[in-house]
Amino acid sequence: MSLNEASKKAVLVTGGAGYIGSHAVKVLCDSGFTVTVVDNLSAGHLAAVDVRARFEEMDLGDLAGLCDVMERGRFDAVMHFAGSIEVGLSMKEPDLFFRNNVVCGQNLLEAMRRAGCGNIVFSSTAAVYGSPKQVPIPETARLFPTNYYGVTKMLFEELLKSYEVFYGINYIALRYFNAAGADSSGNLGEAHDPETHLIPLVLRAAAGGFAADSPAKTAPLKIFGTDYDTPDGTCIRDYIHVTDLVKAHVLALDYLLRNGKSDVFNLANGKGFSVREVISAAEKVTGKKIPYKDAARREGDPPVLIADCSKAKKVLGWEPVHSSLEEIIASAHKWHSSQNR
Ligand code: UFG
Repeated sequence: MSLNEASKKAVLVTGGAGYIGSHAVKVLCDSGFTVTVVDNLSAGHLAAVDVRARFEEMDLGDLAGLCDVMERGRFDAVMHFAGSIEVGLSMKEPDLFFRNNVVCGQNLLEAMRRAGCGNIVFSSTAAVYGSPKQVPIPETARLFPTNYYGVTKMLFEELLKSYEVFYGINYIALRYFNAAGADSSGNLGEAHDPETHLIPLVLRAAAGGFAADSPAKTAPLKIFGTDYDTPDGTCIRDYIHVTDLVKAHVLALDYLLRNGKSDVFNLANGKGFSVREVISAAEKVTGKKIPYKDAARREGDPPVLIADCSKAKKVLGWEPVHSSLEEIIASAHKWHSSQNR
């Protein structure tokens, strides 16, 4: 899509104040799309929303409000990032995840249907696969989530299929593996509260190595499970730079707007790193010794998640360019250092 074509297109981004959503909003604005963000700011940050985007503070539970935004915006497409994301919490508060990821998601589809918006790019997840035997995991693998987060994302993928069949809304579901890193501008990064993701916590622990009053002193980094059937006993994940991830969203949107064909793609690098390998890489990047302690497994964690991402490369023409783990961690480190976390 040329810049001229893109500038005629209006996109609604849900969760555009969140970590991945805010990076996507920036890239959409850079590409010439007209962007409106809907976010309830329960987890996102208003300051992370690109100034070129229009912002509406709204919860997706508000169907009437959503219908109003959809009607007024005459959007060509929606990018849907809003939702609950912490795997561990999903096992403790499944009702919250069902509400935020399924019920609110259906509100969004309903508002799209009523307003005649026929395209959606959805943030799905590797968690829909559970612990598949076949690694790297292709998109055709059986969906069998081991945590409730994955269940709710799988249910929303089912809703997408239904809305396509019954109401002609086309979709692309992007199944992310482990998103990490930060935009090269240094203005955007990962800031969850509470933070549960490995790389930000590792960097926080690295900072604790020299800051006596750091939160890392009171909550040291824990390795969740050291007895998995992996070479060093810790879980293996496929980390993808957020910049590569959001580039894929724009390609997916372009594909959808051009071809109107629904599809599902894995997004990752196709390389796995254990928790211990992430800690060593972060020690190299930061030059600090990172304190940690071995702990029990976290409920719902699959031992190994590595993607087969050949389909996104072939069909969307996507190629990750920031694929080294050190580069991913270094970009996160730059941002976290600037935030004084
Ligand atoms: N981990 C630790 N200690 C921590 C935090 C994490 O050992 O303090 C481990 C986890 O147990 C896991 C790995 O580091 O083995 C990565 O954990 P994250 O919480 O950073 O990410 P998850 O793998 O749990 O979650 C990610 C994505 C989801 C995706 C999920 C698949 O955020 O979107 O992988 O299970 F669905």
